Amino acid sequence: MNFGLILWYAILIIILVLLILYFYIRFKASVIFFVDKDKFFPLPDFIIKLVCAFLFLPFLFFSYKWIFYFGMFVIFQMLFDLVVMTFFANSKKRWFHILYHIFAVPLILTAVFFVLGYVNTQNITRKEYNVPSEKEVLAVSDASSTFTTYEEGSSKLVMLADLHYPKTMNEEKLKEVVDRINEEDADIIVLCGDMTDEDTSKEKMLECIRVLGELDAKLGVFFVWGNHDDNRYNSAPTYEKAEVYEAYKNNGIYVLEDEAVLFGNGILLVGRKDYSDESGRKSMEELLKDASVKTGRSLEELYENVIVVADHEPKEYEQDKAAGCDIVISGHTHDGQIWPLGLFSTLFKMNDLTYGMKQDEGLTQIVTSGLGTWAFPVRTAGRCEYVVINIGE
Ligand SMILES: [Fe+2]
Repeated sequence: MNFGLILWYAILIIILVLLILYFYIRFKASVIFFVDKDKFFPLPDFIIKLVCAFLFLPFLFFSYKWIFYFGMFVIFQMLFDLVVMTFFANSKKRWFHILYHIFAVPLILTAVFFVLGYVNTQNITRKEYNVPSEKEVLAVSDASSTFTTYEEGSSKLVMLADLHYPKTMNEEKLKEVVDRINEEDADIIVLCGDMTDEDTSKEKMLECIRVLGELDAKLGVFFVWGNHDDNRYNSAPTYEKAEVYEAYKNNGIYVLEDEAVLFGNGILLVGRKDYSDESGRKSMEELLKDASVKTGRSLEELYENVIVVADHEPKEYEQDKAAGCDIVISGHTHDGQIWPLGLFSTLFKMNDLTYGMKQDEGLTQIVTSGLGTWAFPVRTAGRCEYVVINIGE
């Protein structure tokens, strides 16, 4: 165990002890308010200590679901106590004391927080960006297995990311989303990682990819890995990365793993391995050189195309700019998902961009908030969305 981890555990334990103490004092005051102190103590005192310890014990084992659900109540409770101490410390009204001692306000705030957060995940929005280009891009007028025709216009690329199936939707709802996206009549569809979650069962993983296999785009549907798709955070995984790969392949979705595809309409799509992939990933320069060899075109010829990079985590914009890429599309950030986490992400520069579209030195950067949510079907920051990008003209 390294020094950093020991320090992290020490800080965590100190915070937990303080929280247990705070809640012990708080619960005890509420019990005394409702029951006769002389008759019931010390047994209830022991029970209160036990309850407080058990409420916070899961925090020590990084049980993130418990941290999230109970943690939100803890935050609301402490904020509420702060407000009471500041503005209502001398209140004599009995109804106010009853509300205070049954934890009504923090409980209601926590419930409202989760209900509104859940409702927000059920409304999938459409986000559209126009990215003009000096390079020639064509619209696909018709595509069949043997013959594709092009015409003047722009090319429509649809990006989905961070579905984390089945956190926010079941098979039926996903089919509805797939039907809605198919109505877009896209030229290219890119699944930009994290389509499943770390605790997704094998059955649900296969179900998700089977339904995504119904997506239809004239030039094809492509997938790039996120940091959750390979099940790496699950201590008892029920499937291997190779099985996910096979499922995409068997459902007609091409997995772009440090690989590029050159389309006849003037777009070169580069799909990168995930930034956190421990096997390492190729640099943008290497990927473009590989694409040059694969397509039999010189680098100069490749640069005549709009180079679109699909990279799950928006973390290497400098490299993309240096390599002369035109557009980079990403997910991963969820636009924070739970307010105010997105603000921390921006403040500490955890990602190059947290949400939206930004133009920087010829590179258009687009980050989606994602189709679903991670870990819990709750979103209090941003919207669940799919993204339509019109490239060219
Ligand atoms: Fe991610």
